Amino acid sequence: MILEMNNIKKSFIKKSLENLTVLHDISLQVDAGEVVSIIGPSGSGKSTLLRCATFLEQIDSGEIKYMNQTAAETGADGKAVYAEHASMRKFKSYFGLVFQQFNLFPHYSVLKNVMDAPVRVQKRPREQVREEAMELLRKMDLDARADYYPCQLSGGQQQRVAIARALALKPEILFFDEPTSALDPELTGEVLKVIRQLAEEKMTMVVVTHEMPFARAVSNRVIFMDGGYIVEEGDPEMVFGAPTQERTKQFLRNYQNA
Ligand SMILES: Nc1ncnc2c1ncn2[C@@H]1O[C@H](COP(=O)(O)OP(=O)(O)O)[C@@H](O)[C@H]1O
Ligand SMILES: [Mg+2]
Repeated sequence: MILEMNNIKKSFIKKSLENLTVLHDISLQVDAGEVVSIIGPSGSGKSTLLRCATFLEQIDSGEIKYMNQTAAETGADGKAVYAEHASMRKFKSYFGLVFQQFNLFPHYSVLKNVMDAPVRVQKRPREQVREEAMELLRKMDLDARADYYPCQLSGGQQQRVAIARALALKPEILFFDEPTSALDPELTGEVLKVIRQLAEEKMTMVVVTHEMPFARAVSNRVIFMDGGYIVEEGDPEMVFGAPTQERTKQFLRNYQNA
């Protein structure tokens, strides 16, 4: 198992209001080579789930394991306890994260954006990293743009650089949080195409998306979240073709005319 999240609870403290529970007892397991899509309305907790999986948010309780090793678990007092610093560094090396906003370094060239973390953080030999980075850029159909700056690229090209940058760290699993939501429809396709290509190569991925035909075609499993719960989960043909929950049907109806 690449990732295991068991019984995750997460709430935010709201000033002058009661706590807002955003994740109620969520469990998510991802096997090597699986593509899991997460769909659901705005505010249902999709981003928070990815942010908990990638340690950008701390869970209140539950268990997080990567590669069958425990990164966080519920302690005797019922509160989550995380592994010590050195282990957390190792856990962070297991995943890559691609956001809706591409978050490239604006003052670095495309190539430098891709090479930076492998050289600076992983301390890998520059020449080898450069070769691998160029190979990744070729794969993203961006090798001719290696010396450009992010502002000289389209949004779709920038997002493909962000994907190359995540892949350069050789993660075991890639998380995408609405990777095409900031893009025009004609640029969305080129980004979905590279994610689809990664799926064919058996890259393990968790993708939060509103692109339903893409989720249906590319995922091994689809999770529908609403109000901090997993309402429905299963084979894409089942979730899209024959959803069992009223809430899922209602949500999917909004996409039928799209
Ligand atoms: N840092 C935060 N502080 C307080 N509330 C938050 C924070 N992040 C998210 N929330 C709330 O958690 C809920 C789920 O948000 P989110 O995970 O972003 O949903 P989604 O990605 O499905 O749209 C929302 O009600 C949101 O307002
Ligand atoms: Mg979100």
